[in-house]
Amino acid sequence: MEKDILTMGIESSCDETSVAIVKNGREILSNVIDTQIPIHEKYGGVVPEIASRNHIEAISRVTKKALEEANISFEQIDAITPTYGPGLVGALLVGLSYAKALSFATNKPLVGVNHIQGHIAANYITYKELEPPFICVMMSGGNTQIVHVKNYTEFEVLGKTRDDAIGEAFDKVARVVGLGYPGGPKVDKLAKEGQANIELPKTHFDEDTLDFSFSGIKTAVINLHHKNPDINKADLCASFEKNVTETLMENVKKAIEKTGIKKITLAGGVSANSYIRNEFLKLEQEGIKVYMPDLKLCTDNAAMIASAGYYNFVSGKRDDLNLNAVPNLKL
Ligand code: KG4
Repeated sequence: MEKDILTMGIESSCDETSVAIVKNGREILSNVIDTQIPIHEKYGGVVPEIASRNHIEAISRVTKKALEEANISFEQIDAITPTYGPGLVGALLVGLSYAKALSFATNKPLVGVNHIQGHIAANYITYKELEPPFICVMMSGGNTQIVHVKNYTEFEVLGKTRDDAIGEAFDKVARVVGLGYPGGPKVDKLAKEGQANIELPKTHFDEDTLDFSFSGIKTAVINLHHKNPDINKADLCASFEKNVTETLMENVKKAIEKTGIKKITLAGGVSANSYIRNEFLKLEQEGIKVYMPDLKLCTDNAAMIASAGYYNFVSGKRDDLNLNAVPNLKL
């Protein structure tokens, strides 16, 4: 039997300090997540400098806890796999510098992970049998992309947002209607009480593209609410959700046509949205297989980073101490 490979994922790209130990890319031994949401809530969004300081305060404690919960010693780790982008540069630097120091001190391999690759890998933990190729609809606070996942480490972006990320639009809508931060889960909850009966615009590009735009719908919701502050907020949230989901689905169908791949995965914080999950599941009636990560693996966590780190590690990727944080890292 082949030896098990344990990767230590380290995630600090935004407002979650997380360290996880994952076996063979698929099995979580620990996934400690120290969230800063209560700290940033009062500012209505993530304050980068405050995020960095809190990562510094949390990182050693979270790492120790991850080893304890996995019930392993540091010697048993095969590779240290930190997120090195995309994200907030100061926040990324904390986890990455910590990982580099650990790697230097213990002589363990350092293998950098792209945060988006991590979100995609959350599906490998949820579905032990899932293998590429497939199409991934990546939707988070900072990114919205349709990705052709060719194999574990090779990706082609088929379409992306030309302006706001879908999560940004959720958060902005929530703020405008007075739901607070982080807005996505609050819009999700309120929308369930409403009807999608408000007409909202969709942005269509002339070219044959799989790109998105979410700034128009975001502005339309803001304007509607400003013009009519008594508008039914639940209906507005439901209408917004329906509109953006239709936009996502239209492009996903184009991606299926273009590639012939009938296997879809969802990824990123917005893939926790209950309406979006239900609508995507309906595609199964058209013979398309749909995968979505466990809810706790949709938003930022280090288990998904350790999983992606495993695949980078076994494909031979190695980094050295020159690895730097790349805030706008692409897939
Ligand atoms: O993937 P993530 O944790 O962080 C990034 O890498 O960006 O995504 C965070 C985003 C936020 O915009 C948050 O409002 C959104 O995911 N989100 C949701 C839900 N849960 C989190 N959006 C819609 N419905 C949800 N249930």
